[in-house]
Amino acid sequence: MSEICVIGDIGLGSKIADELGTRFFRVDNRVFPDGELAPRILVGRIEDVKNKDVIAVFQKGESENVNNYVLRSFLTLSTLRRYEAAKLVGVFPYFAYARQDNEFRLGEPVSCGIVSKIFEDVGVSDFITVTSHVHRASGIEKWFPNIRAHDVSGISVLADYVKSNAESPEDLLVFAPDGEGLPWAQEMAEKIGSHQASALEKERDVNTGEISQKLVEDVDVRGKNIVIVDDIVSTGKTIARAANLLRKQKGAKKVAFSYVHPVHSPGALELMRKESPPFIVTTDTIETSVKGVKVTSVSKVISTKIIELLL
Ligand code: R5P
Repeated sequence: MSEICVIGDIGLGSKIADELGTRFFRVDNRVFPDGELAPRILVGRIEDVKNKDVIAVFQKGESENVNNYVLRSFLTLSTLRRYEAAKLVGVFPYFAYARQDNEFRLGEPVSCGIVSKIFEDVGVSDFITVTSHVHRASGIEKWFPNIRAHDVSGISVLADYVKSNAESPEDLLVFAPDGEGLPWAQEMAEKIGSHQASALEKERDVNTGEISQKLVEDVDVRGKNIVIVDDIVSTGKTIARAANLLRKQKGAKKVAFSYVHPVHSPGALELMRKESPPFIVTTDTIETSVKGVKVTSVSKVISTKIIELLL
């Protein structure tokens, strides 16, 4: 096995380097005044990465444009390939563009396939992400036919938090805001020892983006404490409306929020707070420093996967 080093964004990247006990080189994500990106890996010399197994960790910044996050990741990986890293592992905890895994309307791109193809083309040998949205069509492997791809569980990280911080976690009912999220609700329920995992039925109008949800299963939520689990909170509409339905309309007592990727588009937190969740917990796949939102780290699940790959 070659020597390992981690390069990447200071928050999650340095945590993963600490977990692995390896050297860490930060990337300076420079942006020119016209918006062009020029990420620079702060190595002392090319030999710091040449012939090494390099783990490149990209964490989207809190207010960073998602397109910058994607492009700077590709640019940085291309530098590492040019510097002849022995093995190149790309850690892309928030798999941006994964939701566009289909041509939903005529004329749209299948962006998920384009992004995954570029990862392959820049010479990554392994791609690691966390609870990606591509679960709905098939596994992640379909999108990376030429390299190894790994989708590690951010739900297990949230479940650990809920188990240690909720009062009587075994009495919580776990809900996904839509049917696609049911496996996540089931995973959370199993890990916290709850007997009930269910999903609401959600419909999204592809033209307006508007959603509607209903309780389809015969689950009595009156007086119960609930934790909602989802992969992403972007506008916050999905999770806030689910809470509103369960608490205000169906009589649940308290509804907490847990989700892996805090995309947090403008207005999302306000919508969530209106539903008075007793706690909101997310992970650091994306940088977040919002008051009242607990952040639990995915560094351990990612490091465990890296050790598995490199041993
Ligand atoms: C959708 O299928 C996802 O799992 C999330 O529920 C969705 O992306 C959340 O989006 P928003 O916060 O904008 O409602």
